[in-house]
Amino acid sequence: MELAPGYRGLRLLRRNGRIAVYDAWSEARGCRCVVKVVDLRGDAHDRQELAREGRLLLSLTHPHIVRAYELLRRPRTALVLETLPGETLGHAIRARGRLDARDVAQLGVQLCSALQYLHGQGVLHLDLKPSNIVCCAGLARLIDLGLARRPGRGCAGIGSAPYLAPEQARGAWLSAATDVFGLGATLYHAASGRAPFPGDGRRGYQQLRMRARVNDAAPSVPVLLAEVIDRCLDPDRAGRPGIAELCALLRSAGDEVGWRWSVSASAPAEIPGRWPTTRTTSRCGPVTPALRSRRLERLQRGIQNAEPIGQLSGSPNQEAITTAQGRGPTAAPSPRT
Ligand SMILES: Nc1ncnc2c1ncn2[C@@H]1O[C@H](COP(=O)(O)OP(=O)(O)O)[C@@H](O)[C@H]1O
Ligand SMILES: [Mg+2]
Repeated sequence: MELAPGYRGLRLLRRNGRIAVYDAWSEARGCRCVVKVVDLRGDAHDRQELAREGRLLLSLTHPHIVRAYELLRRPRTALVLETLPGETLGHAIRARGRLDARDVAQLGVQLCSALQYLHGQGVLHLDLKPSNIVCCAGLARLIDLGLARRPGRGCAGIGSAPYLAPEQARGAWLSAATDVFGLGATLYHAASGRAPFPGDGRRGYQQLRMRARVNDAAPSVPVLLAEVIDRCLDPDRAGRPGIAELCALLRSAGDEVGWRWSVSASAPAEIPGRWPTTRTTSRCGPVTPALRSRRLERLQRGIQNAEPIGQLSGSPNQEAITTAQGRGPTAAPSPRT
C-alpha cells in the first residue's frame, strides 16, 4: 500500500484515533522507516497536529530523540521517521517484570539529557511514558512528540492518565517540572514494574488524591534511587528537582549501584525476530550471517563515531556489540504499544 509518494506501508503498527503509525519502506533511501499518517477520517485539526509534530522533530537533533526524515503535506499529511530498532521501554518492562536499578539510573540520565535539550528549545514533551521510549544497544530514544508544546496553561487530562502530573490532570500551568514528573513516573514504572497511578482517569485521577512512593511498590529499589524518583513525583511542582539537579542525583544513585545497560543490549536492525520485523520482508532479502556481520560492523563503526550524551562510565554499546556477536540475537517478541 502506498502511504505517500515513495513510501510503501509494510505493516500497521498502531492506530491512535485518526493517526496511524506504519512500518514502511522508503524507496528513495532503500530502507525501512516509520510513517505516521492522518487517515481518511482525519480533519484539518489532525493534519495540523501531525504537521506540528513533524516540524518540531525536523528542527531537533539529539542522540536520545528520534529523528524525522521529512514531513509530506500532499496527497495527505505524513510524517516520516527513522526506524528505531530495539524495543519500547514498555515492552522491556513487560518482558522482564521490572528493570534493575542500574538500568533505571542509566535510562534516567539519558532521558534527562533529551529533556534538557528539548526544554532548551522552549518545548515540553508532556507525554513521557514507557511506550514513548525505544531502547536499543545502550541508547534510550524519546519518540512521540504529538503532545509537545510550549510552557503555559494546559487542557485538563491531556496525556496518559497513569503518568500525568497533577497540573496536567487539572489543566493548570505546565512547565519543565511537568516533564520531571513524567520522567519520575516512567522511572517508577521501570523500577517497580507498575505504573504509579493505574487507571484511565475516568473515575478521577489518583495523582490528585495520593502521592506515589516507589518503595511501596518495590521495596528492593535502592534508597538513593527511590528518593530521587519520589522527589520527581512530588505533587507540588516546587518540590521536584530541576532537570540538571535530577541528572546529578541520578548519577549519584547510579554511582551507588554501579552502571550498566542491559535493556535490549544486543545488536539491532533487521535481525529476524527483533522489532520491528518478525520476518525480513522479501524486499530486504534474507538476513544471511554474512549480511548480519556486515551490518554489525557498520553499526559498530557508527556507534564508535557517536558519543551519546548521558552515556556514563564503561561502554555499554561496545559491550552490547560483543554480546551480540558472541551470542547472536536473543530476540524478544515484537512490542506494539
Ligand atoms: N521511529 C520509530 N521507531 C520505532 N518504533 C516506533 C517509531 N515511532 C513509533 N513507533 C512505534 O509505534 C508506536 C506508536 O507511535 P507513537 O509515535 O507513540 O504514536 P501514538 O502513541 O500517538 O500512537 C510506539 O509506541 C512504537 O512502538
Ligand atoms: Mg505514543
